[in-house]
Amino acid sequence: MKRILKPARKIGGTIRLPGDKSIAHRAALFSILSRGPITIRNFPDSADCQRSLKAAETLGVRVEHGNNELLLTPPERLNVDAATLIDCGNSGTTARLLSGILAGSSVEVTLTGDESLSKRPMKRVIDPLESMGAEIFADNNCLPLRIRGRQLSSFEYRLPVASAQVKSALLLAGLASSCSVVIREDTITRDHTEIMLRQLGEGLTVRNIKAVAVTDPNDPRKRRMERPEPFKREITLDRKATVNGGLVDIPGDISTAVFFWGAAAISGRSLTTENVGLNPTRTAMLDHLKAIGCSVQIENRTVVSGEPRADITVTGGPLKPRKIYGDTTVGLIDEIPMAAVMAAFASGTTIIRDASELRVKESDRLVAISENLNKMGIKCGLLEDGLAIEGGKELNGTDFDSFGDHRIAMAFSIAGLFLYGPSSIDDDEVVAVSCPNFYELLDQIRV
Ligand code: S3P
Repeated sequence: MKRILKPARKIGGTIRLPGDKSIAHRAALFSILSRGPITIRNFPDSADCQRSLKAAETLGVRVEHGNNELLLTPPERLNVDAATLIDCGNSGTTARLLSGILAGSSVEVTLTGDESLSKRPMKRVIDPLESMGAEIFADNNCLPLRIRGRQLSSFEYRLPVASAQVKSALLLAGLASSCSVVIREDTITRDHTEIMLRQLGEGLTVRNIKAVAVTDPNDPRKRRMERPEPFKREITLDRKATVNGGLVDIPGDISTAVFFWGAAAISGRSLTTENVGLNPTRTAMLDHLKAIGCSVQIENRTVVSGEPRADITVTGGPLKPRKIYGDTTVGLIDEIPMAAVMAAFASGTTIIRDASELRVKESDRLVAISENLNKMGIKCGLLEDGLAIEGGKELNGTDFDSFGDHRIAMAFSIAGLFLYGPSSIDDDEVVAVSCPNFYELLDQIRV
């Protein structure tokens, strides 16, 4: 439905976000391979995570609902008929992680998805899974995927794309098939799979490759930092690795918090988000906010289920532009839509590079961002791998297009708060993919 977005006079208050989507997917999907029950606290009712939960249920996991808790009891053994279809909806994480589990299992299942997911690249998981011996049938390397589970073989892989989904799919394939897997990462991606496996099971080791000081052979007075290996992290799953079960307590989703922090940043006011996940692979936005002129206060730090969390207060200020590239872009991969909206309110030109992955998200996010920024009167250059955004003043309300993408809808709904005159966003229900109560939270922060 089309939603009218009215400008906000002031922003503020304290809110709590739904549970982290990435952690929730993993908790639900781990139950398929677990030896014992898994209790999950704060599982979000976002559409994507419900897809993973439903997939687990289809494969025989018993799901019992308690007070903000789910109890997932795995089946004795996976046993479904070969005509089984699992609809992954809009969820790339469900499709890719489940591909790994199914490839190494004893069942045959077909994965389908909605129009957007059916266009997203699956070759990045199909190729390495096939190298492990998987049997996967697909047209054009896209969904639907028919996966006939079988015994896989041990595998070593240096990730060609920085993707936590690919890494996780391969680790889950190894777990499902009891074969060892070694993954090497040139860029460190979110590590929730590794943390959860260590919390709920055993058989995983992580080696960080630190740079060391070496003497220049041509000039012994000079020393430089060098990494003894070309990659930054090596993750090894033992063939005897197991998931045994236990408790997963999910923190609030930092990737959803960023939209509300963005509102604080643009308005120049303070806003607090409680119990937000602060895994270091996900906190690039906090550094970004500081770099563009905001202040960030972190209180009540704790670690639960191996995942750090805290209450975060962001206070906006006059916003500065920034060059975003390399590992920073990877760290902000889901946050670029909001970073781009903040750039529209900064004084100067923000450049975003190394972001071609954004072209294969729920929409082509580079196109979606540039078209919507142009609509509100911002000059935005579309680059092959990024954007050049010239910040502006006196921006006018407009009719935004969500491109069917939850993060585009949320970022431009925030933009609508700060434009002259009302704006609108089409297809507002798409926010349910990660934050069904987004517009209620938006009402709460208008003070
Ligand atoms: C995710 C990994 C990232 C991210 C996505 C969630 C995950 O995707 O963009 O929203 O939970 O592993 P890629 O693995 O494609 O980078």
